[in-house]
Amino acid sequence: MPLKLPKPPIPDALNPRPKRPGDPTQGAKPVDIAKETGISAADWVDERLALTQPARWVMFRKIPRGTNWFYTLGSATMFAFLSQAVTGVFLAMYYRPDVAGGAYESIRHINDDVFLGQFVHGMHKWGSTVMVILICLHMARTFFFGAYKYPRELNWVIGVVLLILTFTMSFTGYLLPFDQRSYWATVVGVNINGTGPLVGPFLNDFLYGGPDFNATTLSRFYAIHMLLLPGVIAALIGAHLWLVMKHGTTAPPWLKPREHENGHAESEYAAVNGGNGRNGGNGSTNGGHS
Ligand code: HEM
Repeated sequence: MPLKLPKPPIPDALNPRPKRPGDPTQGAKPVDIAKETGISAADWVDERLALTQPARWVMFRKIPRGTNWFYTLGSATMFAFLSQAVTGVFLAMYYRPDVAGGAYESIRHINDDVFLGQFVHGMHKWGSTVMVILICLHMARTFFFGAYKYPRELNWVIGVVLLILTFTMSFTGYLLPFDQRSYWATVVGVNINGTGPLVGPFLNDFLYGGPDFNATTLSRFYAIHMLLLPGVIAALIGAHLWLVMKHGTTAPPWLKPREHENGHAESEYAAVNGGNGRNGGNGSTNGGHS
């Protein structure tokens, strides 16, 4: 039979203190205290801003049955845009829009001397191509799924403007390295714009900042590329996403509404959030079957 020894005497100070009623931090592990502090801080902010409801509206949504990987192309385009914005900020820290050789030299400096400069420059350069490919794929998805139909026509129009602005970003960015290729490509591009009916000559003058390529053309392109267009694109993406949230996404065109036994057609929105029939909009916005 094993011998049972009495517990060794421990000084009172080392014994765990009994929990005090009503004090949640007493005896709690540091990780629980950290969690509790985080929750209290979030509650404090939420009490003042009341953002929980709008955040729920944005994040917890019903999506149609049959939603697939093609629906990620819009978000992929957005992340390409964000990556361009972040890498662009770092490039702007070193770039000089100086036609007298400074622009070319600053790009050489970024590529050859700056820590990770070539990497960030490469991400920005290839990222622009990636964004153009993604935006075209996303547009094709919305077209072939019939997502441009009622009530999403306005979102399609905003998309078209975003497409044009994305192309303009690529065009204005192409001049910035200011080597022979970018200079002559820009001359050709602006001349093509200049041949357009009515607005062509004005567009030509606006882009060059005069009738011909001159000392201010590069800074004009730079300002359009890194101030004007990103601001407008960001605002339009905001409007685009707000409309997506308002209407919900379009069900895939091959999806037929299921018929219930009582003859009523079932909504194409899958019951993913408690099945309250909410689709993020007014519930009558499925343009996919019109
Ligand atoms: C910067 C460019 C763009 C961004 C960041 C963007 C982002 C998005 C996102 C995140 C969605 C929701 C999910 C999805 O379907 O992928 C969406 C939906 C949509 N986008 Fe875009 N988009 C852009 C450009 C375009 C273009 C060029 C068009 C068409 C010309 C377009 C037309 C639409 C339409 C019609 C919808 C609704 C889709 C549906 O109801 O299923 N978007 N967009």
